[in-house]
Amino acid sequence: MIKTTAELRSAFLDYFAQHNHQKVSSSSLVPADDPTLLFTNAGMNQFKDVFLGADKRNYTRAVSSQRCVRAGGKHNDLENVGYTARHHTFFEMLGNFSFGDYFKTEAIKFAWTFLTENLGLPAEKLLVTVYSEDDEAFAIWENEIGLPADRIIRISTSDNFWSMGDTGPCGPCSEIFYDHGEHIWGGPPGTPEEDGDRFIEIWNLVFMQFNRQADGTMEPLPKPSIDTGMGLERISAILQNVHSNYEIDIFQNLIKDAASIVGSDDLEDKSLRVIADHIRSCGFLICDGVMPSNEGRGYVLRRIIRRAVRHGYKLGADDIFFYKLYASLVRQMGAFYPELEQQRSTVEKVLRVEEEQFSRTLERGMLLLNEAISELNGDTIPGETVFKLYDTFGFPADLTNDVAREKGLKIDEQGFEAAMQEQRKRAQQASNFGADYNDVLKSEQKTEFTGYEFEQGNAKVVELFYQGKAVDSLAAGAEGVVVLDQTPFYAESGGQVGDQGVLQTANGDFVVKDTVKLSNAIAHKGTASAELKIGDVVDARVLESRRQAIRLNHTATHLLHAALKTVLGDHVNQKGSLVDPERLRFDFSHFEGVTRQQLTDIENLVNQQVRINHSLQTKLMELEEAKASGAQALFGEKYDEQVRVVSMGPFSIELCGGTHVKQTGDIGLFRIVSESGIAAGIRRIEAVTGQAALDYSQQQSVQLSAVAALVKSEPGHIQERVAQILEQGKGLEKQIAQLKQKLASQAGSDLLSQVVEIKGVKVLSCVLDGVEAKSLRDMSDTLKSQLGSGILMLGLANGDKVNLIAGVTKDLTGKVKAGELVNFVAQQVGGKGGGRPDMAQAGGSQPENLASAIASVSAWLEQQL
Ligand code: ALA
Repeated sequence: MIKTTAELRSAFLDYFAQHNHQKVSSSSLVPADDPTLLFTNAGMNQFKDVFLGADKRNYTRAVSSQRCVRAGGKHNDLENVGYTARHHTFFEMLGNFSFGDYFKTEAIKFAWTFLTENLGLPAEKLLVTVYSEDDEAFAIWENEIGLPADRIIRISTSDNFWSMGDTGPCGPCSEIFYDHGEHIWGGPPGTPEEDGDRFIEIWNLVFMQFNRQADGTMEPLPKPSIDTGMGLERISAILQNVHSNYEIDIFQNLIKDAASIVGSDDLEDKSLRVIADHIRSCGFLICDGVMPSNEGRGYVLRRIIRRAVRHGYKLGADDIFFYKLYASLVRQMGAFYPELEQQRSTVEKVLRVEEEQFSRTLERGMLLLNEAISELNGDTIPGETVFKLYDTFGFPADLTNDVAREKGLKIDEQGFEAAMQEQRKRAQQASNFGADYNDVLKSEQKTEFTGYEFEQGNAKVVELFYQGKAVDSLAAGAEGVVVLDQTPFYAESGGQVGDQGVLQTANGDFVVKDTVKLSNAIAHKGTASAELKIGDVVDARVLESRRQAIRLNHTATHLLHAALKTVLGDHVNQKGSLVDPERLRFDFSHFEGVTRQQLTDIENLVNQQVRINHSLQTKLMELEEAKASGAQALFGEKYDEQVRVVSMGPFSIELCGGTHVKQTGDIGLFRIVSESGIAAGIRRIEAVTGQAALDYSQQQSVQLSAVAALVKSEPGHIQERVAQILEQGKGLEKQIAQLKQKLASQAGSDLLSQVVEIKGVKVLSCVLDGVEAKSLRDMSDTLKSQLGSGILMLGLANGDKVNLIAGVTKDLTGKVKAGELVNFVAQQVGGKGGGRPDMAQAGGSQPENLASAIASVSAWLEQQL
């Protein structure tokens, strides 16, 4: 008898293996080379090319249990998780496949036999749908299986015509439904009550016959094939006699563990379901190499993690908790997915860092949100609030929506989108021009860039701008923007800063301070020394030494990127880059500090590639061809159809529009100057090349020699010498502290002779001499403990200032407060003080009155005691 979900998964795989199906492992949640798909969302994804005939395998039948994520992108169930019995961000799809081998009859027979014989489901609980025109499938169900015609339902909608996406393999399908019984509301498929929970689809048999083209036409596949999908959690719920997927073994165990981690005792709480669902998608996604980020897949992951954290917070979790649940996931699913255990330390670390970062703002964000909700008129949270939560507190819109939904409210999605658009526009403009450059931004000129080959060339002025407005000429001395028909000046892009130089005319120069891109035009920003007019011909000259320094840094950036991947691992991805003449700055995904040794390895590897002296190759290619050649493309970056591929031997191949050296040897030397963390999971390396790297190395030696001279050592022995000095310093500090104590206790015992008794209380009130103000505290503590029980009032004249301290042992603070005592004295010397009942300090400005003030203490105490 099959009981657990794990047994069910094995039974399915074994059944089809017995019928000559190849067992194929689940593929990654990150689809290989399929830009049309955000995450793997069906068992057939990994076989897409086999169906299309573009890929051949040495088997024609396969079976798998495929991990799937339906969050973000086209199939998105994220928002429904927690609200229904069957929605998940992560689930497993059991499937059997035929690639031009068997077709409808066998597919239907396999499914029926497995359900009714192997799993023992009663036939009368099952009913099926077929595509309305598919008489063949109808006949198989009726005649070969013997299902009564009233339990074979024809459906004419797309529900029974399955396709992977807008394009790709597709075909009519037949779905098998299970009747959970009369006690649950709902009707059979095709009826108005079909959305109820009584009749649940368990298995979809797709008869793959076509390849849908982008224009909607259907090309027949080379051979009719079979793709099926059965949700493991659903069928498991039926076998375990429960109605909701969240009641099956895997989920119950995750929910129990989650409850004990966050300290909740209501196992029915919706938030626990959300957390149990989310640890599965987050755990598997990170295992498959996705890192939380602000774009693409990483952003979906971040949204799911944050949603889970918010639900934990709702349950009262008072500490980072989510990563702790990963161990439970490994226990539940690690036997079938060994990668869960293998990646454990990485996944836990990534989850922890992400949660820590978000927790810092979660509470404040929730305060803001609750406030906004309490002030709400109507039922819609304004887009501005949703945006502020996103922008300031990292609340993705769907998280705010989640909170809103719990309270029966909505969010203004359009308003939010508008606020986002505004921000993007602002950022874009700010990065190119000041706000007053609206005319410049409207330029429709196209400038040809000649700078890959030349640093100089003649060109014609085609547009001029002054104070943001298009003009016909720029007067001498005016600051403005020049657009040419062609230019060797590189416009800031891809992290590489814009070129500087001059545009020379017969009359004078236009000195270019910066070069930036408009849509298609290249704009030179600078100052004219003589009048410049539209139509003028200029000799455009890039500042060559600066350009060369930039080239060195840009090429070194590519080498660094490749070296990081080699030394730290393939998870390293570029997150930002700045290339200027002085240095290069490279931000990348990595979840812990890079060690000293790793930095040395990276530096060595880059320098080794410099010495190999690769010739730089640049090629224009089709995007697909470039990716196929292994070129590094940035995820989420938009590329044209034609891309420029820059390669340095086999070591580095990247898509890049920047300017580079001819040979890697031109770089000369590469030195890393710093490594630091700039955000959760993002590190930054700064480095220098060429002369700057040499300068940096020399400076370091000069500093080292200077330090060596200061400590009277040689650079080679400096470390021991400094350690020795530090050790000596520590010894001296210790000695000083001992001496101070000795002095204080000596001074103390001298002072003790001045103790008087007032109404049976020991009182020491005196003016000190030759004592440092700093040691007053220590002295008073020592004296207090020497007195055992008593009152102290010490005064010290210090130039034109007075320092006072009063001490009262604890047993006497009921009678006299140190604060009052010190103030009584302080007001006589022009000061004020404060402190605790047993110790208080004050200052003053009349040292001449100190002696009499201290002398007045006895009389005052007579009255107090
Ligand atoms: N590929 C089919 C589905 O996802 C089986 O439903």
